[in-house]
Amino acid sequence: MTTPSLFCFGLGYTGVRLARTAITRGWRVAGTCRSAEKARALRMLGIRAIPFDGERASPEVKDALAWATHLLDAIPPGEDGDPVLRLHGNHLEALAGSLKWVGYLSTTGVYGDCGDDWIDETRTPSPATLENQRRLDAESAWLDLGARTATPAHIFRLPGIYEPEGRSAIDSLESGRARRIVKPGQVFNRIHVDDLVAVLLASLERPRAGRIYNVADDEPAPADKVLSYAAALIGVDPPPEPFAEAELSPFARHFYAKCKRLSNDRIKRDLEIQLRYPTYREGLRAIAEACTGTGTLPAPVEPQT
Ligand SMILES: NC(=O)c1ccc[n+]([C@@H]2O[C@H](COP(=O)([O-])OP(=O)(O)OC[C@H]3O[C@@H](n4cnc5c(N)ncnc54)[C@H](OP(=O)(O)O)[C@@H]3O)[C@@H](O)[C@H]2O)c1
Repeated sequence: MTTPSLFCFGLGYTGVRLARTAITRGWRVAGTCRSAEKARALRMLGIRAIPFDGERASPEVKDALAWATHLLDAIPPGEDGDPVLRLHGNHLEALAGSLKWVGYLSTTGVYGDCGDDWIDETRTPSPATLENQRRLDAESAWLDLGARTATPAHIFRLPGIYEPEGRSAIDSLESGRARRIVKPGQVFNRIHVDDLVAVLLASLERPRAGRIYNVADDEPAPADKVLSYAAALIGVDPPPEPFAEAELSPFARHFYAKCKRLSNDRIKRDLEIQLRYPTYREGLRAIAEACTGTGTLPAPVEPQT
């Protein structure tokens, strides 16, 4: 049996987490990054890191793709669309049949504003921004390539990812970057990076060509509630004043204007996923316990809403 080999376009937070797990399972892993410093760090982890800046095709990427059995695209699209398909689409076409699984990391932003509805993957996307339209175009392009080349392609629509190494409400409080955003009635989901990696691995093990998955936790919640919970866990006060809407970036203003209640039934049904962190409470507690090194922390009491 050949050794399974993962190629990851965009070794960022998610790509590296998936790569590290794959290596512990005996996989070969290669992928791209944009700086020499990052490439050095990735090589220390046993990952074959190849420079790829999204501007020009890389002969080294082309060679490495030839031995890949599984491929993840974690690079966001730019003005010219998905750089992977634009620059290496022809090489991927030529691999027809040899890739056992392809995953594309997208965003739940493709759904647009959904009011109070629960959204599953059968919902017709309605992107409200150019960026989200580009995402939807990239999704379609990957699904088309998969269908044309008999390659099982999958789309993973992600809400905000949080994780223990620098991206959570706890980090933003500790670094002084936390902003209290109070938007009555506005809720959205999140996903802990470990649960995201578990979903990707489960899909790798049971490819289903053309399948789209919402990768989200169980509980859409307001930003303010999550920040207050994180603050109580680490024993600090959240910022006293709500952040003025006028100071939000255009992206953030757009984001906080929308509600999104994501259904995650499909990952549970198709992939038998049992979330390790079903809500922000379990996820943030695990991060706080790791940060403080104090073992199990008591669960903060939350106000009734
Ligand atoms: N983080 C979230 O909350 C969230 C939510 C929804 C969707 N997503 C999407 O899900 C995917 C993975 O998320 P993530 O948080 O793991 O991403 P990330 O940490 O930002 O990693 C993205 C990777 O893509 C590379 N990259 C970015 N633009 C590139 C370009 N033009 N050409 C070549 N490489 C490029 C980055 O290179 P460098 O390492 O050199 O920077 C990085 O390795 C991304 O597409 C992201 O937009 C993320």
